[in-house]
Amino acid sequence: MASDTYRWLARYYDHLFEFRRPFAEAREIILGPLLPRISSACDLCCGTGGLALSFASQGVRVFAVDLSPEMCRITRGKARALRLPLKVICADMRTFQLPEPVDLVTCEFDALNHVPRKSDLARVLKSVAAALNPGGHFVFDVNNRLAFETAWANTWFVDKDPVAIVMHSGHKPGADKAWCDVEWFVRQGKLWRRHREHVEEVCWTPAEIIQALHNAGFDRLKTWDAAPFFNDELTKPGCRTFWRARKRP
Ligand SMILES: C[S@@+](CC[C@H](N)C(=O)[O-])C[C@H]1O[C@@H](n2cnc3c(N)ncnc32)[C@H](O)[C@@H]1O
Repeated sequence: MASDTYRWLARYYDHLFEFRRPFAEAREIILGPLLPRISSACDLCCGTGGLALSFASQGVRVFAVDLSPEMCRITRGKARALRLPLKVICADMRTFQLPEPVDLVTCEFDALNHVPRKSDLARVLKSVAAALNPGGHFVFDVNNRLAFETAWANTWFVDKDPVAIVMHSGHKPGADKAWCDVEWFVRQGKLWRRHREHVEEVCWTPAEIIQALHNAGFDRLKTWDAAPFFNDELTKPGCRTFWRARKRP
């Protein structure tokens, strides 16, 4: 992802993407059992900071990492407004480094799929493993090929004053790649300004993810299908998977 992608998406992310809410139940089941033993965490690809701020409000020492300067700016602003301690780091998930290792790294809402190449999964996992204490956990969710073939083969229109967006998405069969062209119409008084953004994702088979996690030093892998958590039209069984993995002690 170029660091200027997610500029407009960042600015109107909370405003437009209310469907972001279904993560609460998944967090309770997947993260819940870990939380009593967590004193530090990093939310990787933190977006507008919701999860990182929730950790900070529970007394967890938190880092929040994102490549988009606009996402980082919004997250820092929220932390300041809420007077919560949060260290925001503008970095690429493939190469990020923390000042100290943490007990938990999270990466939510198919953020991991945003790397440019399938081979980048190994780089991300290497950086995550280096950021974790031995015995620490990595919790993430990914879009699977079925999501590219179904949910990403569409055009969506969202209109929520003062913005309207048209998202044309598609996928390249056989390449495990999908793309979304976002056309923005932002109302400024009586005028509408138009902007464009382009987002790409890659996906992996479960076998590829298992192999990459083992190679990076993770064990105790566990998965959950997202459909029962999300219970929406878009998320059919098999489309999105939650993963939890432990860095070998
Ligand atoms: C779908 S959003 C998810 C944001 C947040 N995790 C959430 O659950 O709302 C994807 C996020 O990944 C970030 N991102 C994309 N590529 C990245 C990269 N290579 N390194 C770090 N962050 C990246 C984007 O800036 C964006 O904030």
